[in-house]
Amino acid sequence: MKTHKVAVIAGDGIGPEVLAEGIKVLRKVEALDGNMKFDFTHFPWGCEYYANHGKMMADDGMDQLRNFEAIYLGAVGFPGVPDHVSLRELLLKIRKGFDQYVNIRPVQLLEGAPCPLKDVKREEVDMIVIRENSEGEYAGAGDWLFKGKPEEVVLQTGVFSRKGTERIIRYAYELARKEKKTLTSISKANALNYSMVFWDQVFEEVGKEYPEVKTASYLVDAAAMFFVKQPQRFQIVVTSNLFGDIITDLGAAIAGGMGLAAGANVNPERLHPSMFEPIHGSAPDIAGKGIANPLAAIWSASQMLDFFGYNDWGRAVLKSIEKVMVEKKTLTPDLGGTSTTSEVGNAVIAALAGIS
Ligand code: NAI
Ligand code: MG
Repeated sequence: MKTHKVAVIAGDGIGPEVLAEGIKVLRKVEALDGNMKFDFTHFPWGCEYYANHGKMMADDGMDQLRNFEAIYLGAVGFPGVPDHVSLRELLLKIRKGFDQYVNIRPVQLLEGAPCPLKDVKREEVDMIVIRENSEGEYAGAGDWLFKGKPEEVVLQTGVFSRKGTERIIRYAYELARKEKKTLTSISKANALNYSMVFWDQVFEEVGKEYPEVKTASYLVDAAAMFFVKQPQRFQIVVTSNLFGDIITDLGAAIAGGMGLAAGANVNPERLHPSMFEPIHGSAPDIAGKGIANPLAAIWSASQMLDFFGYNDWGRAVLKSIEKVMVEKKTLTPDLGGTSTTSEVGNAVIAALAGIS
């Protein structure tokens, strides 16, 4: 019997509501499989914790998390705590502290998922975006000079180290080779004359080691246009932290909406825990109503199963999500239904029992 230790940070708003369903699904997988177990430990960190303790996580929080194999995160952020505090002191702290330098975001139009694009076939929206997750434009480097004075100047510096740039690009090449897919780099060398010229150069250099991988390179603005007009151009995509953040929200929009978008923050060397989360936020506008769509959180549970090496179970969970969406009987309001969060979770579990 293999046991997987998973830290659960449900967080704020709809975070706990959607994670509860993801955990239900993982428990079902555990029961159906019979040879593995999940050992969940819940941590109460987030904005409510901040209100009571003046911090987003315990002082030794990172040490408490260190020995888990994975972290399952809901969402953090709530009115009352500035977003840059909640984001920096919990989410970014974990991503950075555990060197989760790969952000894997599938942009895949599942069967039954709504797509706002006209005349697009399901198979044409099928990509994996590999976003650099440890430095770049989100490195937090810069300065704020002459605050409040007429000559005020702010500087926000992108940090692109050779190590950081090479490793993310190499990860993407490896994936493209393994999956026999094309690899597209998204950058902006015409305007960002240091960082993105360097990025493009590294993309070419590393590419020499992967002659069998077909590549393309787009400027980020053109890529945004093609995401909408010709998504079939993209299979594996690699890009910087900021561009990846923006382009994957666009990706979420063409692949069924925020209620369906998942992302994994991975430390490929497995020296530290990796983190799995829906990419949506805490949705204060619908929190507490029991109508949040849990499918993104369930999809991230499926990514966690892949990460643990249970790819068959990962696929089975995705198939179950598809079954629920194709049937259209049990969906939350964002997907045009009238069901509750937990009814959708139960429907996925029922589908899973039928599939496996
Ligand atoms: P959001 O993703 O929370 O909400 C955007 C819109 O999408 C809202 O109308 C919301 O109701 C809807 N939505 C999101 N997830 C949904 C779901 N599962 N089912 C149905 N509808 C869903 O983004 P917003 O409003 O910009 O941010 C709210 C808070 O969340 C902020 O404090 C922000 O900092 C935080 N946030 C946290 C993230 C994280 O923890 N990874 C990511 C993005 C935002
Ligand atoms: Mg984002």
